[in-house]
Amino acid sequence: MPDITHILEKESLSREDLIRLLSVQNQNERDLIFQKAMEVRAELVGNEIYLRGLIEFSNICEKNCFYCGIRAGNKNVERYCIEEEEVLRCAEYAFENNYGSVVIQSGERTDQEFIEIISNLVQKIKMLSKGKLGITLSCGDQTKETYKRWFDSGAHRYLLRFEASDPELYYKIHPNNKKHFLLNRLNSLQYLKETGYQVGSGMMIGLPGQTIGNLVDDLLMLKTLNVDMVGMGPYIEHKDTPLFESRDQLLPKKERLELSLLTISVLRILMPDINIAAATALDSLVDDGRLQAIRAGANVLMPNLTPLKYRENYFLYENKPYLTEADDLIRKINESDMLNGYKIKLGEWGDSRHFARRVN
Ligand code: 5AD
Ligand code: SF4
Repeated sequence: MPDITHILEKESLSREDLIRLLSVQNQNERDLIFQKAMEVRAELVGNEIYLRGLIEFSNICEKNCFYCGIRAGNKNVERYCIEEEEVLRCAEYAFENNYGSVVIQSGERTDQEFIEIISNLVQKIKMLSKGKLGITLSCGDQTKETYKRWFDSGAHRYLLRFEASDPELYYKIHPNNKKHFLLNRLNSLQYLKETGYQVGSGMMIGLPGQTIGNLVDDLLMLKTLNVDMVGMGPYIEHKDTPLFESRDQLLPKKERLELSLLTISVLRILMPDINIAAATALDSLVDDGRLQAIRAGANVLMPNLTPLKYRENYFLYENKPYLTEADDLIRKINESDMLNGYKIKLGEWGDSRHFARRVN
C-alpha cells in the first residue's frame, strides 16, 4: 500500500490516493492527514472561523427524501412558517451581534407565495442591516428565474447539497421521480453559478450502503462542480423515515464521527481555499462534534438563531441539538482548549476565497 506521507506530498490526488486516505485505520496515519489539513488551512484560508446565523424559516416541504424527518410524508410533524417580523428579529440579532451573515433555510416549496416571501425577507434583511449582513439561502431546487429573483433581491450565496453523487445510492435515499431527479439538482448548481451566487453543495457521510468509493466520488464531484462552499455531515437516522429500516447497516457513532472528520480533512487538502461548514449533525454524534470539525479543517460555523419554540419541529434527524443557544456555542468555541489559535471573525461576510479566484 502506498505510504500516506508520500500521498500527502503530491500536487494532485488521484481517485486511488483519495480512497487510500479515507481508508486509513490507524491513529498515526489519521494524525498525518489532520496535520496536513491544518497546514493547508492555515496557509490558504487562515485560522479564522466565520459565523452564519441560521434561521430555519419553515419546515413545510414538498419533497419526500427517505432520510429526512421533515419530509412531506411525515405526519408527526407540526408544520410552521415563521412570520416575517419574527425572522427579521432573528436577523437583527445576527446584525447586532456582528455575525456578518445569516442563512435562511427551509423545506422545499415552489409556489409563488413562497417565492415572494423569501424575496421580501431578503430585501428587508438587507434594508435593516444597511446592506451589511450577507445572506445565504438554502431553500432547495428552484427555477432559474427564482434563483435570479432572489439574487436580485440581495442573496449572494446558495447551499444545495447533492446528498449522494452516485445515482444508484441517490435513488436508494430518494424517490425516483421528477420532483427528486439528481440531474435537476446538478443543473440547479450550474444555474446558481451562472446567476452569480457563491455556490455550496455537499453530501451525507455514512449513509446505509455507502462505500468509501462512493464518498471519494462525492469529493471528486465537489471538485468537478468547482464549488465555493461545502456543507457535509454524518447521516443520522430518524425513526419516522423510510431509511430508518436500514439502521442496522450503519457504522457505529464513533466510527461515523471519525469518518466525517477525516472526510473534512481530506476535502480541505483537495480544495484548499473553499469554505467548509462544521455541520450541526456532528453534534448529534458527540457533544463537541462541531468543534472537532473546526480542528479537522472546517472554517464556518452556523449557530442556530431559530426561535426555540419552532426548533422541535425542525428535526431533520434524531438527537439534533435543538436547545443549544447560539451564544453558548460561541462561548464554547472561544473557551475551548482544543481550538487554541482559532478565532471567530466578527463583522465580516467571510466569503469563500475560492469564489474570488474562480473563473468558471
Ligand atoms: N441526517 C443527516 N443529515 C440530514 N439532512 C436531512 N436529513 C438528514 C439526516 N437524517 C441534511 C440534508 C439536507 C440538509 C438540510 O440536512 O443533507 O441537505
Ligand atoms: Fe425536504 Fe430538504 Fe428534508 Fe428533502 S432534505 S425532505 S428537500 S427538507
